[in-house]
Amino acid sequence: MYGLASFAALLGGLSLCSAAPTEQNITSDTYFYGDSPPVYPSPDGAGTGSWAAAYVKAKSFVAQLTDEEKINFTAGYTASNGCSGNIPAVSRLGFPGLCVSDAGNGLRGTDFVNGWPSGIHVGASWNKTLAHQRALYMGQEFHRKGVNLLLGPVVGPLGRVVEGGRNWEGFANDPYLSGALVYETVQGVQEAGVGVSVKHYIGNEQETNRNPETENGVTVASVSSNIDDKTIHELYLWPFQDAVLAGSVSVMCSYNRVNNSYSCQNSKTLNGLLKTELGFQGYVVTDWDAQHAGIAGANAGLDMVMPSTTTWGSNLTTAIANGSMEASRLDDMVTRIVASWYQLNQDTDFPSPGIGMPVDVYSEHEIVIGTSADEKDALLQSAIEGHVLVKNQGSVLPLQSPRLVSVFGYDAKAPESLDLAPVSLSVAPPTQNNTLWVGGGSGANNPAYVIAPLDAIQQQAYEDNTAVLWDVTSFDPDVDPASHACLVFINSYASEGSDRTGLVDSDSDTLVTNVASKCNNTIVVIHNAGIRLVYNWIDHENVTAVIFAHLPGQDTGKALVDLLYGRANPSGRLPYTVAKQASDYGAVLHPVQPVAPYGLFPQDNFTEGVYIDYRAFDKEDITPQFEFGFGLSYTTFDYSSLNIQRTSVEATQYPPAAVIQEGGNPRLWDVLVNVTAQVENAGSVDGAEVAQLYVGIPNGPIRQLRGFDKVNILAGETVTVTFALTRRDLSTWSVEAQEWELQQGEYKVYVGRSSRDLPLTGSLTL
Ligand code: BGC
Repeated sequence: MYGLASFAALLGGLSLCSAAPTEQNITSDTYFYGDSPPVYPSPDGAGTGSWAAAYVKAKSFVAQLTDEEKINFTAGYTASNGCSGNIPAVSRLGFPGLCVSDAGNGLRGTDFVNGWPSGIHVGASWNKTLAHQRALYMGQEFHRKGVNLLLGPVVGPLGRVVEGGRNWEGFANDPYLSGALVYETVQGVQEAGVGVSVKHYIGNEQETNRNPETENGVTVASVSSNIDDKTIHELYLWPFQDAVLAGSVSVMCSYNRVNNSYSCQNSKTLNGLLKTELGFQGYVVTDWDAQHAGIAGANAGLDMVMPSTTTWGSNLTTAIANGSMEASRLDDMVTRIVASWYQLNQDTDFPSPGIGMPVDVYSEHEIVIGTSADEKDALLQSAIEGHVLVKNQGSVLPLQSPRLVSVFGYDAKAPESLDLAPVSLSVAPPTQNNTLWVGGGSGANNPAYVIAPLDAIQQQAYEDNTAVLWDVTSFDPDVDPASHACLVFINSYASEGSDRTGLVDSDSDTLVTNVASKCNNTIVVIHNAGIRLVYNWIDHENVTAVIFAHLPGQDTGKALVDLLYGRANPSGRLPYTVAKQASDYGAVLHPVQPVAPYGLFPQDNFTEGVYIDYRAFDKEDITPQFEFGFGLSYTTFDYSSLNIQRTSVEATQYPPAAVIQEGGNPRLWDVLVNVTAQVENAGSVDGAEVAQLYVGIPNGPIRQLRGFDKVNILAGETVTVTFALTRRDLSTWSVEAQEWELQQGEYKVYVGRSSRDLPLTGSLTL
């Protein structure tokens, strides 16, 4: 734990609001209501770039509003529908109100919608085009159901805390991969005319103490993520920057504190980083009940409170009258919200807000179909591509018309019932007793159906005229020795509201070893809502194949059977590092707990800096079980002909931009270097390869992902993969200059199959 002096030094990097609180100098009351002085001024949305027309319309709209009407835009109200939150209508001006709802993996809490693969599954697919398609179709479902704003996607957590309960909602433990996929997701959803609220901003890396808790009159504040300026830029802000660049109309501030100010009243992160440095034009909405300040929050850059407020309302008018808040701040809050509505063309082309969101689907309600037949291919393909094959001894997969397949494990079967709360917010047992297609909490969407693995395997047996035996209850089942293969299904559950209690569970591991002791072709499938370790059985000679199946959504079993039987070739790659043992993750394995002397104000010091996941394993020279970026295919790929070309863009440090656009200084996106390589499919079946490019930036981690290209390659064919390296990709954040800076010296360039299998190496100097 930090002493006060070193703790203050840690804060210095971000030069944030207040001095570090101690239990002696602050009470929970003063903490809640007064701790975030507006040191960073709130910039008005300027209507830059593509926002110009929307801002013109919004300004003229806002000019016609009364003060009360303006205030109504800034906080949710209770409507008789099933939306997660609502903004009331202003009927006299033709504004029908807003419905905002969860979540990033499909629409929650209603009927006739699809259950899409979760964020971690999209991360494991490493497929930008597919991520875009998934987002577009998902957005269209929200549109048909009258939901103006999708509460997602998630890029915070980034996965720093390995046991984090919500890591599965995000894409990857790497900012570049996460950023590339959130960019496509934001654009895809918004192309459908639905806004996104990228969440949870920022440093929301654990569920433990995410909210303040009061017991016996004593309040323990939310955990504070204490992040230095360099780390926040190079890791946690990075994917949010991509989301803003993509035009995200909203950002959701998080439950936690950042450097000891609550995220939703933190003027450095909201006014400073998001609205000034990144040029964000949309609005900041609280996570649900994450408002802990009144006027201080508005002045710090918060624009909308959900699902309701007790501290804003007419207090805002009083604050304006007595000079504690500028009237222009209220106008800016409303302008940002209304401009977003115009930006998405929701003024001309949108159903009645909340029309497909009945308050209770078990009562009489209007039927609004969210799904559409044209989504089927993208739904299945997205489910297929997030599976990662990590072991395939003797090429036991794909199965070749097996005479008898035996199926074991609770995770193979469909749930007993499918209702609108498939996985509750409550803390779950270590093993869920049915197949896991999504994690728990507000990201758990409600699918139209679920094809469980066992159902799909039986359908396949019907097609093939073969046999299936199963026992999905016993942890020590009998095995018919005539079995060609024994498929064992286990899972690793995680949910919003709590962190995981470990990365293995002994019941599931015992099941695997029991089956393996009786069956010499044991194939393990793990539906994992986060990192799952396999040291208890990975080297067992009878465990021949292993698939990390993640969270595929409703087509789960169908996708898996396509892979098992070779109709599809595995092309997923791990978006995180699987360690040989939990302790290899070091201090970030567990969430922090409140400890003395900061018991009332839990502190999480991100002292590891940018060294999480593979960056840390590389630095410490720890051999992982399966490295970041790893995954097998039914074919093999050979790499050759690395070519590194400087473009004509000057590599001199760039001047501050005259106008900050969405995403920040536009010159960050200048392409300085183009890299190409040849990849040959050297096997006998067609397949897709994820070619990965890593850069060793002088003075930075050994390697960082800075490009990837997923390509389909026919057997025997060779294709060229390309990577464009931007100024940001090649820079590090300078705390002194408060800018991204190119480095002097030799940059190492690596291209290959994973973060540890990089056959092509080269270098460049700028
Ligand atoms: C979650 C958010 C969600 C919100 C609305 C909160 O508890 O943290 O991710 O969007 O609820 O349901």
